[in-house]
Amino acid sequence: MSAAVPPREPSSQESPDAGVSRRGLLLGAAAGGLVAGVATGFAGGRAVAAQPTASSGDVVRLDNAVSFYGDAEQAGIRTPPQRHCVFMTFDLTTSSRTELQTLLATWSAASAQLMRGATIGQVEPSQPSAIGDDTGEAVDLDPASLTVTIGLGPRVFGDEYGLAAQKPPLLRELSQLPSEALDPSLTGGDLSVQACADDPQVAYHAVRSLARIGKKLGAASTRWTVTGFGRASAGKGQSTPRNLMGFKDGTRNIVDDADFSQFVFTGDGPDWQRDGSYQVVRKIQMRIENWDTDRVSDQNRVFGRHKLSGAPLTGTVESDTPDFSKTDASGAPVIDPTAHIRLAAHENNNGLKILRRGYNYTDGINQYGFLDAGLLFISYQKDPAQFETLQRRLGSSDALNEYISHIGSGIFFVPSAARSGTYLAQGAFA
Ligand code: HEM
Repeated sequence: MSAAVPPREPSSQESPDAGVSRRGLLLGAAAGGLVAGVATGFAGGRAVAAQPTASSGDVVRLDNAVSFYGDAEQAGIRTPPQRHCVFMTFDLTTSSRTELQTLLATWSAASAQLMRGATIGQVEPSQPSAIGDDTGEAVDLDPASLTVTIGLGPRVFGDEYGLAAQKPPLLRELSQLPSEALDPSLTGGDLSVQACADDPQVAYHAVRSLARIGKKLGAASTRWTVTGFGRASAGKGQSTPRNLMGFKDGTRNIVDDADFSQFVFTGDGPDWQRDGSYQVVRKIQMRIENWDTDRVSDQNRVFGRHKLSGAPLTGTVESDTPDFSKTDASGAPVIDPTAHIRLAAHENNNGLKILRRGYNYTDGINQYGFLDAGLLFISYQKDPAQFETLQRRLGSSDALNEYISHIGSGIFFVPSAARSGTYLAQGAFA
């Protein structure tokens, strides 16, 4: 594992506040409580593009800060995956359009503060009877490349909030897909928050803070959550990490800007939608104790790759392109017809690609005493049908299905980044 490096001057690609600690900002934040601060717009944003940079490559820089505001997509999609992620969905508990606006404005302002490594108000107010605005557990911690990425579920665009005409054209509930065993308590949600950081406490603090704001405003309550660790996908410049099955995950993922434009970001519609993307989230449980009893040659067959090197079974190194037409001496395909990569590869799906940005998770031990763990699968695409097409195929034929179950699911539209001085999806309320 690479070690954290000492603080240094923020680079031009980062927020100018990258080097400012939460502690340093505490006094400034003491000037007003959270909601009061939001009313004045927090004056925190700058007109810079949402930064795709987190810690670069595999080097973790805990002092690195990513900007919330920008004129392209929200951070946390193209951003190379940080090491930890807390994902949470919320139910709207208000039917007031104005209260929904206030919630999005407050969440935006708070997220901008949190991503800078600042508190969202007083931790220890001077009045003995006062309640703190910020819960305090991230004080003294660096920004750790925190990204807070906020998504809007289908209900936001129902008649209730007068936003039906603003609905992103492809936003809808996902179709029923093969091999899913969805638990209603791990499914759906009107809003999503994906908080990723190189420090787990920073990520948790962000989600906790937004949950607290939702409750305080009477606008949103928590629905389901997954705490992810050990990124299970690779971004530009990163080496490929491993999932809990011990395989390198993210070898052939989207990294090129051209692919981001072609497959991930919508690229049309009003400004607040143009750099948006559809976020699909699946909680996928793994039967890891069964997996661990399988011989490694069979595990390799299941994925179509070698466990240790990550090379396709038709190659020798990880970066080799799989040869799906190659056969062995007996004429059988080297990469099995039911292998995960054969079914998912763009070569076998009319060129279709998605961005995978998943994390490992564990829920400890289940009621039967088995290890309870899996993959927090998060994908971004310009059309939810991209995910459905792949999952329909994988769900019906993937050799991996013996070892996994999709138990949770959600779909959200992640609007463009908020420009400085505005809040997320503000254009939808115009
Ligand atoms: C627990 C569930 C899953 C596990 C453990 C898993 C694991 C892997 C691994 C080890 C690879 C090979 C390395 C790589 O190229 O990243 C891979 C590739 C891939 N997976 Fe999954 N995956 C899972 C679920 C899914 C789902 C639900 C989808 C989409 C619906 C998906 C789509 C893909 C795609 C598109 C590739 C790249 C295939 C290629 O181009 O070679 N995976 N996955």
